[in-house]
Amino acid sequence: MVTALLNKAACASCHGANFSKPIDPSYPKLSGQHADYLFVALKAYKSENNPAVGRNNGVMGAIAKQFSNAELKALANYMGSLDSELSIKPEPRFR
Ligand code: HEC
Repeated sequence: MVTALLNKAACASCHGANFSKPIDPSYPKLSGQHADYLFVALKAYKSENNPAVGRNNGVMGAIAKQFSNAELKALANYMGSLDSELSIKPEPRFR
């Protein structure tokens, strides 16, 4: 079921192999991110005219709106369960 959802919006075409090799460095890696964070992020792309909780991104907005919240949760749970290639990199400007 999750595979059908992933294929429906071709998630890997932008987020890359294992959702960890994005086609552009500004695109986020998803694998191993906390599932509840991913779910909130995906729901936020669906929101409109609510900048306090919403995210405004033309690409992900159009994609997230194709899915029910239950489907977004299934996607988030799946990506959160994958092996992570995320790492924490100190940013010089925060020192
Ligand atoms: C056409 C390219 C493209 C496709 C296809 C795509 N994404 Fe994205 N995704 C992006 C970009 C660009 C961002 C960063 C947007 C931003 O700045 O908020 C993003 C952000 C995200 C985020 C937020 C991650 C975070 O750390 O905040 C999630 C979750 C996500 N995408 C999941 C998905 C899922 C699930 C699919 C398939 C259903 C998908 N994406 C398909 C380009 C894409």
